[in-house]
Order: sequence, then structure tokens, then C-alpha cells
Amino acid sequence: MSSAWRNLGEFLRFLEDKGDLVRVSGPWNPKFEMGELALRTVRKGGPALLFEDPSGKRMPVALNVLGTEQRIAWALGGETLEDSRRKIEELVQIKPPGGIGDLLSDPAGTWEKLQNLRALAPKHVSKAPCQEKVRESNDLDFLPILTTWPKDGGPTITFPLVLTKNPETGAQNVGVYRLQKYGKDTLGMHWQVHRVGAENYRRYVRRGEKMPVAVVLGADPATVFASLAPVPEGVSKFAFAGLMRGKPVEMVRCQTVDLEVPAEAEIVLEGTVTPGESHLEGPFGDHTGYYSLPEDFPVMHVSRITHRADPTYLSTVTGKPPTEDSVMGMAVSRLFLPVVRMLLPEIVDMALPMEGLFINVAVLAIRKGYPQHARKVMHAIWGLGQMMFTRYLIVVDHDVDPHDMGEVLYRVGLQADPLHDLTVVEGPVDQLSISNRRENVGGKIGIDATKKWPEEGYPRAWPEEAKMDPTTLRRVDELLSQNPALAQALQKRR
Ligand SMILES: Cc1cc2nc3c(=O)[nH]c(=O)nc-3n(C[C@H](O)[C@H](O)[C@H](O)COP(=O)(O)O)c2cc1C
Repeated sequence: MSSAWRNLGEFLRFLEDKGDLVRVSGPWNPKFEMGELALRTVRKGGPALLFEDPSGKRMPVALNVLGTEQRIAWALGGETLEDSRRKIEELVQIKPPGGIGDLLSDPAGTWEKLQNLRALAPKHVSKAPCQEKVRESNDLDFLPILTTWPKDGGPTITFPLVLTKNPETGAQNVGVYRLQKYGKDTLGMHWQVHRVGAENYRRYVRRGEKMPVAVVLGADPATVFASLAPVPEGVSKFAFAGLMRGKPVEMVRCQTVDLEVPAEAEIVLEGTVTPGESHLEGPFGDHTGYYSLPEDFPVMHVSRITHRADPTYLSTVTGKPPTEDSVMGMAVSRLFLPVVRMLLPEIVDMALPMEGLFINVAVLAIRKGYPQHARKVMHAIWGLGQMMFTRYLIVVDHDVDPHDMGEVLYRVGLQADPLHDLTVVEGPVDQLSISNRRENVGGKIGIDATKKWPEEGYPRAWPEEAKMDPTTLRRVDELLSQNPALAQALQKRR
């Protein structure tokens, strides 16, 4: 099965047909109550939730839409995440043609693959469902914005797709950066310093020009997922969404700012950010499970609100994992392994445990080819996109399953000598990290838990692992198969 959902509504109807969406009606308050129910649901691997106001006065609220691996797989147009991972793998394996000769003979079918890619690039349209209604005022009070945690600084839009533009190249970017409601028509732009949105803002500050911004609330699920994914810089996330779902994303021009938004979006907020203007944001119960401290962030002034005739407000709830965003993080780490391997082919597999919040702990299994290879991989990872934030980086040999934490700890404890096998560095860390003394800067440690070689300065003979020989293994299997009662008794013991 493969489907390209045109919009959020189509996906929600599909989930309902699958029995994976529950309609919730009644007096649920967007302040605390909806979020608490969503957290309880995601922690049980439960369905997507669609809160409906029986009086019809308040817009429906969708929560936990991407809260399971299965729903993320469906969102991306496949049946399993493996389907999407394979698509990304095929994509990164496309080799640019070496010259005209290569294109003419084209043994790898590169020309056709490139043509197919072009056909999936975003398409421009002039009429769009997201502009069916233009609101008379820019008052944000009509939105059912959730407040999640008791000490949050205020109602916060937690799942917005924030579109910005590089004023020098015109390239648009989209990222999920939460937006606290500051006033009737103002929002706090919580783009962390390392994000593309923040970099674009710094460009406008240097030019002394107002920055156009568009915020999309609810879109087709592939576009939503692409917006939060660490798509390599220079690759459009809308093109990435098109590739994933096998159908281009349609884009329409905004009415008051020079940006384009997905035509099938639910709600669009257009506006500008004035360089230098900021306002205290937070505290906010964050992905870490802690309240992020109040800090100044730029202010968006809304200049126009448009929406579909009957929009749904998409939101999510952050907190200590497991949460919806940590489920999405797990999916990202699985889907993007081919991209990491394209740059570092010696990596056989990678685990970013949910408890490590995807930025704190990574385990890499590598095929070691030369002395200090593990250290080369550590430094490469610390220079690679959002993986640069990794505080604890464990490297094991290719035959160790990095997802088996028992096995990983066994290797670390036995094979890494703290005197010789640790690499401690200082560098940029995620803005949400709390143990670092200075914001955005901190320590990182690499643990080389691979088997050590003489060429790496290990002076003793590395002992051999005690493993049973294959003949005995086969013989015991055979003997067990002749004694079903014993085989069953052994199974029961496990
Ligand atoms: C639910 C959710 C909320 C997020 N909130 C923020 C946020 O407030 N600020 C931020 O900088 N990143 C936030 N992120 C992470 C970014 O969206 C993510 O790192 C994205 O890849 C950044 O895109 P960019 O590199 O194009 O800027 C959030 C992610 C999710 C899933």
C-alpha cells in the first residue's frame, strides 16, 4: 500500500477507517487537560485523538497523530518505516553522472531517476484550500492553543511549520519551532541558535530588514514529518516530502509576505519579525522533561490569517520521553541511517536511544579498517549536522548490535580503558542541554569500545572471545529436536 495524503483531513479519515483514531468530545480544556490525555495515550502506544467541541464553536484539535511508528510509516505513504528507509537509500545511491558519455550510455538508469526526482519537486498553484477563508482580524484567540504544563509561560503552538527564507539566495526553509502566544497577534519565535530559521534571522539582522515569516498549522503528514527531519541543508524539505509520498507538494504564494506555503495546509499565519525586537519566552516543559528557562526570543507580528473552510488544529505535547516527538525522533534515526552512511560508509548501524533524547547518546557500530578509526568516526559525527550535539558517543565493532544496550554496556565495560580509550572534546551543544556550564557550549565524550589492535598502542595480545564451535551448536540443536520435552522445558526457562 502506498498513499500520498493530500492533506491532514484525508489522513485523519484514513486513520479512523483503520480504527487508529478516536474522536473525543466533551468539555476537554486545551489548558492542561487535552495534553495530559495525549501523554497518557502516546505512552500506551494508543490512537490519534481528535477533540471535537459538541457546540461546534471551537475548532477540532488533533493530537498524537504521528505517535506510533505505524502511523509515521502511513504518513510517509508506505506500510512500514522500512519502505521509507529503502526510498531514502535509493535516493542517496543515485550517482551524479560523470559526464555526457555517462548520460548517453546511462547504465545505472541515472537519467530516468533524475527525471523522476524532478517530477516530484514542489508544484506552484494559484488557488489553494488554505486560503479559502481570510480572517478579518489577526487576533489569534480563535485558535485552540494548548498550554501543556502547569508552569509554562503561556499557551504555546507546539507543532507549527515555520517557513523562513535566506534573503541572499531566496531559498525557503521550514522547521518546527514552537511559538508562545505573546499577545493577541504576536508570537515568540523559539528557533534555537543552531537552526536554519535562526541563521536566516541573523541574515535579516545584518541587512537591517524586516523578516517575512509564514507559519503553517496542520498540513499533509509527509510535509509535517519532513519539517522536523534533519534533511541535509540545501535539500528542500518540501521536495523531500514529495519524494517520500511519491507526489509533489503543491505550494501557493502568501498574501502579505513573499513566501510560499503548502496549498493544502489547514491554517496559515503570515507576518514579519523586526530585527532586534525580542521578548521573554518560557518557561516551557520541554523535550528534556524539564522546564526550559525563560529566555528572549524574536517576535512575529501576524499580518494575515487564512485557513480552510473547516480547519483542524494540529498540536503535540512535549515532555520526558516517551512522547509523540520522541517516537518521531526514533523514526528519524532509523530513516536517516542511509544519509549518515553515505558520508561515513564504515558505519554499519547506529542507535540513538530515546532516553538519550537523540542528542545526548549515540552508539555506532563500525567496520574498523585502520588504527584509531573509531576516533575518526567520532570527530566526523561531531561535525555532522544535528549529530554534532551528541554528548556521549560510543563506538563498537561491526558485529555488535548497537540497539542491544546490555551488549553495548558489556563492550564498554570490558573493552574501553578509561585511561586510553576516551576522547573528550568541547564544542557546540544543543540549546536545551542543561549540564553544560555555559549555554550552547559544553563537553562531549567519545568511548572507543572496539577491540584494540597492536597498531593502536595496545601492547598485550587481545584475547579471543570464547564461542562454541559450529559443529557442537548443530549437534546440540539436533539432539534437542529429538527431545521435544527438554526443548520445551528450556524454552520455558527463558
Ligand atoms: C514537536 C517538536 C517541537 C520542536 N520545537 C522546537 C523548537 O521550539 N525550537 C527549535 O529550534 N527546534 C524545535 N524542534 C526541532 C526542530 O524542528 C528540528 O531540529 C528541525 O530539524 C530543525 O530544522 P532546521 O534545521 O531546518 O532548522 C522541534 C521538533 C519537534 C518534533
